[in-house]
Amino acid sequence: MKNLIIKNASQVVTCSGFAGKRGREMNDLHVIEGGTVVVTDGRISHVLRAGEPLPVDEAGYTVIDATGKALLPGFVDPHTHFVFGGYREEEFSWRMRGDSYMEIMNRGGGIVNTTKATREASEDELFEVGRRRLDAMLRLGITTVEGKSGYGLDRDTEMKQLRVMRRLNEAHPADIVSTFMGAHATPAEWKGREDAFIDFNIREMFPLVAKEGLAEFADIFCEKDVFTIEQSRRYLQAAREQGFKLKIHADEIVQFGGAELAGELHCASADHLLQASDAGIRAMADAGVVATLLPLTAFSLRETFARGREMIDAGCMVALATDLNPGSSFSASVPLLFALACIYMKLSPEEAVTAFTINSAAAIDRADRIGSIDVGKQGDLVLLQFPSYKFLPYHVGMNIVDTVIKQGEVVVK
Ligand code: NIG
Ligand code: FE
Repeated sequence: MKNLIIKNASQVVTCSGFAGKRGREMNDLHVIEGGTVVVTDGRISHVLRAGEPLPVDEAGYTVIDATGKALLPGFVDPHTHFVFGGYREEEFSWRMRGDSYMEIMNRGGGIVNTTKATREASEDELFEVGRRRLDAMLRLGITTVEGKSGYGLDRDTEMKQLRVMRRLNEAHPADIVSTFMGAHATPAEWKGREDAFIDFNIREMFPLVAKEGLAEFADIFCEKDVFTIEQSRRYLQAAREQGFKLKIHADEIVQFGGAELAGELHCASADHLLQASDAGIRAMADAGVVATLLPLTAFSLRETFARGREMIDAGCMVALATDLNPGSSFSASVPLLFALACIYMKLSPEEAVTAFTINSAAAIDRADRIGSIDVGKQGDLVLLQFPSYKFLPYHVGMNIVDTVIKQGEVVVK
């Protein structure tokens, strides 16, 4: 039954809006104390203040008493690489010994290591590990997940990864938004011919992925020793011409001009941004690019955190994501994400909630459908074990999710 009433929540944290929020607006959560939310046929049909009469007959609905619990929109994770073969626990030990992420990548480990395992894995094996990871994310309150290819780096494996995500979108309660990331790294067979590898993606992969309707976004790892600004511009412009919306991994390890490029191209989002320059931050604010920050990655790599506070103060639309992947952030820990965003990136709890709901929906161009508790939106909701959203960063590292609802159905209890 997709009809549901959640009654008397201590807070209905609506995050109300049909577009992402910038700058100071990120503090406006539009909280209704003692509110009730009605989901009819999978969509939010009523958001009621305390004491307002129920406009529907309870008989046709599942009713949840949310006394003492805060209700939020389902979390939206707008940047992950959750479909991959193998693991890289050895590289973690090397990093703890002092090797850097890029040193490991430059000597043939890193992304291409996972590429080998992903090429070897069968489609069903990838489906199975993907499903388990989505289950874990759903238990943490994530109801929509963006996922990237980019561990194939050849035609068949990129297509295999994207097909797995399409199948998971159909088979799993979570919604999956797919991104083609053919330019994630240069595989051994193209090493030294990066321009030709970009051409291969533009001429062969974009048309194929577009024809099969397997991805909505295209993404590239724009970084020193990976892909240059010129290569990234060429790849992204061609992607747009072939119908993809644009994302970019920008300024993760060194300051490289990726945020500026995102502004120039009006990308939907620029992600990572640990080293984004002042000019890059301004460019993103001016162009309305969502700045998607990945604190679990900065933490796992022991890097400096992105300047979240400054980006918001500069008027950026800031989103948060887990970046779940086997290398730089093997975590989808929503609790740790909230804690790091507040403690180290200096977001207020309100800004962090906005960043992982309506703004992360904007990062995947879904702010009209998900990311807030507004009439007409999908009935994707998270009920917490505590009376306030403020417990999300405060109860450090603890999963405080009570119930998860996807399109009006209880999927985690
Ligand atoms: O977003 N930086 C590039 N891509 C991923 C890491 C991928 C990997 O190491 O496997 C990221 O951090
Ligand atoms: Fe990433």
